Amino acid sequence: MTDDTTVRDALSRIVDPGSGKDLVSAGLIKGLSLRDGAVSFVLEVDPARAAAMEPLRQAAEAAVLGLDGVTSVSAVLTAHAAAGQAQGAPKGPVPDLGLKDFTPKPKAPEKPGPLPGVKHVVAIASGKGGVGKSTLSANLAVALAARGLKVGLLDADVYGPSQPRMLGVSGRPSSPGEGIILPLRNHGVTVMSLGFMVEEEEAIVWRGPMLMGALQQMLGQVQWGALDVLLVDLPPGTGDVQMTLCQKTEVAGAVVVSTPQDIALIDAKKGIDMFQRMQTPILGIVENMAGFTCDGCGKTHYPFGHGGAKAEAERLGVPFLGEVPLHLRIREAGDTGAPIVAAKPESDEASGFWTIADGLIRTLEKA
Ligand SMILES: Nc1ncnc2c1ncn2[C@@H]1O[C@H](COP(=O)(O)OP(=O)(O)OP(=O)(O)O)[C@@H](O)[C@H]1O
Ligand SMILES: [Mg+2]
Ligand SMILES: [Zn+2]
Repeated sequence: MTDDTTVRDALSRIVDPGSGKDLVSAGLIKGLSLRDGAVSFVLEVDPARAAAMEPLRQAAEAAVLGLDGVTSVSAVLTAHAAAGQAQGAPKGPVPDLGLKDFTPKPKAPEKPGPLPGVKHVVAIASGKGGVGKSTLSANLAVALAARGLKVGLLDADVYGPSQPRMLGVSGRPSSPGEGIILPLRNHGVTVMSLGFMVEEEEAIVWRGPMLMGALQQMLGQVQWGALDVLLVDLPPGTGDVQMTLCQKTEVAGAVVVSTPQDIALIDAKKGIDMFQRMQTPILGIVENMAGFTCDGCGKTHYPFGHGGAKAEAERLGVPFLGEVPLHLRIREAGDTGAPIVAAKPESDEASGFWTIADGLIRTLEKA
């Protein structure tokens, strides 16, 4: 039976001509994972040699695929920068140019190309965690699909993928050939998540470059087919994943999710700033967990205030796409793999998601 050791044995028979060492003793194999015959690992290589490593990556995949009981293999090539040495950083002491308050502007992004077959890539973002990006992504995807659009959802929250649970998809996407990953499907939505490829504990110890490699692979090798919209459920904040997405693909824009708390709005502003610096348009703002309808008196209460996201959208001159109430059934639906838009499409709690979906369709038509 194939296990960790037999996979490593197979990989140790492949020699990297560059170093003369085999892949295992050269320490290039990272994040090896085996699950029901599906093997995945990362080949971590010197950035200067990344292109030259592609044949080795293919050889590594082929060698593992030849093992007994292995049904699919996914090897991701990632470049790592040597520790403590930023690429292109000057060596030796940094000259004092007297620019104490100077913050370097991020490099003007080179114009990335579109994803083949995908009309609009839409990022679902927030400055702060836990505001409902994944809940919105799942419901929006289902709602857009119900409106007749061909919809894909890429769960790019590599640190805590939610979509396998929220959209009720599990198992491993198959990889029928070199550099080809077939996504899964449920509720009319084509889904790919890093959660399908790695164990959660594993992703946490992955370093930036490995994650970026995996994200690029999910964008480039997944057979999305022809899509009207590809929603990208981002991790919170303004980190590498957001940057990589905007640099590597043509993103139609970002939908920013915020809760009514002021602090969340301040964080939302940071998120908005980042996309503006990346020259990625803000397609709209959504207020989640806005109010809740009280079982006791039947009225809607707004414990954290109300309308801040709408005011911010007006200030920025971007569409306010709508609001979603705080409702137990929204969370329960997400936890059981059928978003509220699929489980109870006619319900009051679902209605905000339909409004947001229709607003997004209008915005994309204009774009
Ligand atoms: N409108 C809502 N009503 C009730 N529960 C909600 C609502 N929106 C989100 N939740 C719940 O709040 C929690 C956080 O939501 P979610 O995972 O969608 O946020 P997130 O922004 O994607 O978080 P992270 O930053 O960790 O990725 C989940 O348990 C979700 O079910
Ligand atoms: Mg999330
Ligand atoms: Zn009440």
